[in-house]
Parts: sequence; structure tokens; C-alpha cells
Amino acid sequence: MALRLGCVMMMIVLLAMAGRGSDATFTNKPPQSSFCQRAEASRQCANPPTVDSDFKVEEYLGKWYEIGSTAAFKLLSEAGLVCNQALYSSANGTLSLLNSGLRVISRLAAAEVTAINVAARGSCAAAREVCYQLPALIELSQSLSDPSLGHRLASSAQAADLALHRLAADVSLVQQANGDISQANYSSGGRTLQSSIDVINRYTKDAEEHQDAIADFAVELNKIRAEATKESKEAQKTLGSAALKIGASSAGIEVGLKALEVGAKYLMSNGQPIDNGGVSSVTGTITQPNATSPAKLEVAISVAKSPYWIIALEKAKDGAYSAALVYSCQQGVGKSLFVLSREPTLEMTTLAAFLSKAESLGIYNDCEDPFLLTLQRGGSCGQPPLSM
Ligand SMILES: *[C@@H]1O[C@H](CO)[C@@H](O)[C@H](O)[C@H]1NC(C)=O
Ligand SMILES: *[C@@H]1O[C@H](CO)[C@@H](O)[C@H](O)[C@H]1NC(C)=O
Ligand SMILES: *[C@@H]1O[C@H](CO)[C@@H](O)[C@H](O)[C@H]1NC(C)=O
Repeated sequence: MALRLGCVMMMIVLLAMAGRGSDATFTNKPPQSSFCQRAEASRQCANPPTVDSDFKVEEYLGKWYEIGSTAAFKLLSEAGLVCNQALYSSANGTLSLLNSGLRVISRLAAAEVTAINVAARGSCAAAREVCYQLPALIELSQSLSDPSLGHRLASSAQAADLALHRLAADVSLVQQANGDISQANYSSGGRTLQSSIDVINRYTKDAEEHQDAIADFAVELNKIRAEATKESKEAQKTLGSAALKIGASSAGIEVGLKALEVGAKYLMSNGQPIDNGGVSSVTGTITQPNATSPAKLEVAISVAKSPYWIIALEKAKDGAYSAALVYSCQQGVGKSLFVLSREPTLEMTTLAAFLSKAESLGIYNDCEDPFLLTLQRGGSCGQPPLSM
């Protein structure tokens, strides 16, 4: 599966390159990997349209199963929980929510799952910082008066871009494995806590090699600057400042990766599944603050308010809402994406269509926030029946 995905991605890269090649204004600009291409868009919240036209909140009430959510939410608010469900209800004109899940690892282990998520997000964010430096360097590589120096700069920037892309893929796989630990998802394929921790360690090691390549890139930039004596002061300044920033970001990536190793070690001693850990739940209220956009809800849990935008809905034959794609993003606070279903399962085709819709709207789930499936065990999942 991973291999096939790799092939598809390679084909996309080749197609993109072929497209550029046939362009009359082809300038030898190296194509950027998808990870860095999305760097700018990842700086801010997307502003996707919501399903306002015929949305009726009364029909949205009732019980929903969470089919999956993105890592920052799943490994923080839902760390250590499986079978996450939401019950939306209306009483006396007030809309309420009850989110619940079944605890399967200890609270201590759940805190470590969160710490690993924070470390993964940190290294991913530092990798993005390197991405931000690349366009100016690629631009500069075209305008240096010494073409061989320009070529060196372009090819080292391209190599860094690829290293970042691979590092991001590794960190995503770490997040997936952390999701398995968080949900004690060991029932298939003879997997265990140990094997999930091995996965974290393996991809962290691999990511460290790509981080080394980024550190080398900073060194190479300094060398290029030292040789660029005939170039403009401005070009030298660009090289020097990029080297400095990339060196600092590389150190940031390294800190995050080291924290992953430490977290994995702690999890090995604390992350064992627990039986019958009990139901964990939170309550809150739901409002519709935007009169012109009824599907832009807002959820308040204790003092924290967050947007709850329904950006896709699937309907059953009788017109009832059967699945929903929900986006929540607050600049500087965080983003998440949820898929809900009236049943504990969802057709893979519906899920795939939802996720590709999100992507087409500029909502990316790269290494900062990959989409993780929620372990549902069908029906009540061993929980007492939900009621308000
Ligand atoms: C709703 O109103 C009824 C009658 O006024 C009251 O008995 C009930 O407690 C209220 N329910 C909630 C959830 O506030
Ligand atoms: C309400 O929604 C509309 C349409 O989506 C949007 O243009 C507007 O900015 C929103 N208003 C507020 C206050 O968020
Ligand atoms: C549990 O692990 C299996 C095997 O890797 C995977 O296919 C499945 O998607 C995982 N389930 C969840 C809910 O993460």
C-alpha cells in the first residue's frame, strides 16, 4: 500500500515535471514537493464553504459516531480513548452536546501520547520553516552570475525539499503509530505496544537522517556564500540569512525528534492497555452564531469556544443526514477535521471522498495533523447507553 502510494506520488512528480518541460518558459526551476508547496497554505485557516443551503440543525441532532479525527485533536482531547461518540440534543431552545469515549490506556500514558503528538507537531512545524526559505533560494539560484554556483544552490535546495518531504512522511507515520498506542489498537496482525513503539523508533531514526540532510544544507549554504564573493551584497545576505534560519530550524526539528524518542521510551513502561477503564465524557453547548450561515456552528466546552463548520454532508435515501465532515480552525489556536457517521462504520469511498474534498478546499493533513481513524467496536462499544 505504502509502496503503491509512493509510485503514485512519483508519477505525479514526473507528470508535474513533464508539464513544466513542455512549457515554453521553462526555467530549470526545480519543482517543489507537495509538503513544501503547501507550506504557505498551512500558515492560515482555510475558509471553506459550509453546507448552508438546506441545513436544518434539528435534523443534525442525535447520536453520531466519530469515524476519525485529525491527530492534534485525537491525541490531545481524545488521547487514550476509543469509541468516541457525540450526542447532540435540544432542550428548551438550547442545543447541547455530550462527547464521550471509552478509556483504554491510563491517564499517564495518555499524557505521554499527547507529548509525542506535541513533539511530532514541533518537528513538523520546524520543517515547514525550512520550506519558507526555499523559494527565495531557488529564485536566487537563477540570478547568480556564476552558473555553476547557481546550479549548486538549486540542486541543494531541491535535495532539501525532498528531505523535508520524506521527513514529513516519517513524522506522519509516527503520528499514526501513536494513534494506535492511544487507542490500544493491537487486535490485528499480531501487533503489540512494543511493535507500535518500534514503528515510532524506526521512523524517528529515518527522520533523523533527513534532518541531518537539512543541517548539511545549512552548511552548504554557508559554503556557497563564502564562494559567492563576485555576487551582489544582497545575494550574499540572502544566503547568509537563509543558512542561519535553516540551521536554527534544523535544530528545532532535532529537538522534536529527540522528544519522540524519549516519549516512546516512557510509553513502553506506561502505555499498556487497561481493561474497562470507564467512560470519559464532556458536555457543552452549541450555538449558531451566523444567521446567514446555519452550518457554521460554534461549540463551547467549559470556557473554550471553537468553530464547528459542517463542510460536507451525506444523506441517506430518506434524506436523513448519514455522515458529516466537520472543520474547526482558529488562527493561532489550532485546526481539526472530523468525520462523523450515524453508524459505527462508514463506507471507505465516502471517507475518501470527504478527505479529498477537504484537501481540495485547502485543508491539509500533513505531518502536523494527519487524519487518524477512530477505533469503533460497533454499537455501544461496551459503553453504558448515552443519555442526557
Ligand atoms: C426545560 O424546561 C422545563 C420546564 O420549564 C424544565 O422542567 C426543565 O428542567 C428544563 N430543562 C433544561 C435542560 O433546562
Ligand atoms: C457568516 O457567514 C457568511 C457566509 O459564509 C460570511 O460571509 C460571514 O463573514 C459570516 N459572518 C460572521 C460574523 O462570521
Ligand atoms: C488499527 O490498526 C490496523 C492495522 O494497522 C489499521 O488497519 C486500522 O486502520 C487501525 N485502526 C484504527 C482505528 O486506527
